[in-house]
Amino acid sequence: MYFRKEDIKYDLLLGALDEMKFWGRIVFEHLKFHRQAVDPGNERAFRSIDRYEVEVEKFYNAYIFPVPETSSSQMLFSLTGQTLNVVIPARNFKSYLNREIAACNILSLIDPELADHLIRETDYFIGQLRYSRGEPTPTRAVLGIPDGTKRAITVPRRILPMLRGNTLFTSAVENIMFFSRIHGEHARHVTLVTRPVIQEDIRLQAEEFERLMFANIERAQEVENTGTGYDELVNESSMLAAEFRDFSFFVNDALHKCAVPTGRVNAWPLLADHIAREAQYFVDVMNRISGKAPAPPPNTPYYPYII
Ligand SMILES: [Fe+2]
Ligand SMILES: [Fe+2]
Repeated sequence: MYFRKEDIKYDLLLGALDEMKFWGRIVFEHLKFHRQAVDPGNERAFRSIDRYEVEVEKFYNAYIFPVPETSSSQMLFSLTGQTLNVVIPARNFKSYLNREIAACNILSLIDPELADHLIRETDYFIGQLRYSRGEPTPTRAVLGIPDGTKRAITVPRRILPMLRGNTLFTSAVENIMFFSRIHGEHARHVTLVTRPVIQEDIRLQAEEFERLMFANIERAQEVENTGTGYDELVNESSMLAAEFRDFSFFVNDALHKCAVPTGRVNAWPLLADHIAREAQYFVDVMNRISGKAPAPPPNTPYYPYII
């Protein structure tokens, strides 16, 4: 398949490359979290998760991270296919882990709700790759957002400013519902890993973000159903995303400097970094939906680890 550089399809493939660079890293980090979370007595689970993690991280470092934006359309198109061939098995493995955790066959610090969250993020990414290849996207149910039987418009974020009319409206509402749930769950996770009394200040802020994010899903659903209040929804979701991004970067920074009361929370610093990057992603999506300039990349550079 060949697309000319001035073709919309070439923009789509560049958009897909941007998503592969962002979500590819997210996908193998999820496997790092799973690997570190299983009961250390379960050597078998640890090693099988490790095998998957190494495979995806190696693929990312070799085939995604170094790819320049000047690549040909044929190369980018074929990379989306290769990436799907790596990410779909990783997604299915995450789904297997979730079932085993839920059935109590694998004892893990990752609860089924969080395991499900990791799968939904992977499905969002798979949807973006499929969209850029002209293939069917996942349903809303797969992404865990209301009105589940509809197919979600999972465009790469760079394409959002090119959308118009109903497509922009629906895509904006879907992104707001999807990321409000995702960040509501991040906030809930922060409430779980901070200590009552000693770290009450952080815990209470996280609890408030959890409440606001989940309320925002309902609000987005109402805007979709009534067709009114779109501009306010976009403005306020943008503000909420930016506030949560600032909170996430504060927690991330404090964790890396041991600057929270007692110096530690019960979560890995990489998880705080990961959440902060995803929060910046939400801000970026909202900027592009509302016609503002893209948000700068999050200040968490990536240095490939050679396996
Ligand atoms: Fe994630
Ligand atoms: Fe997440």
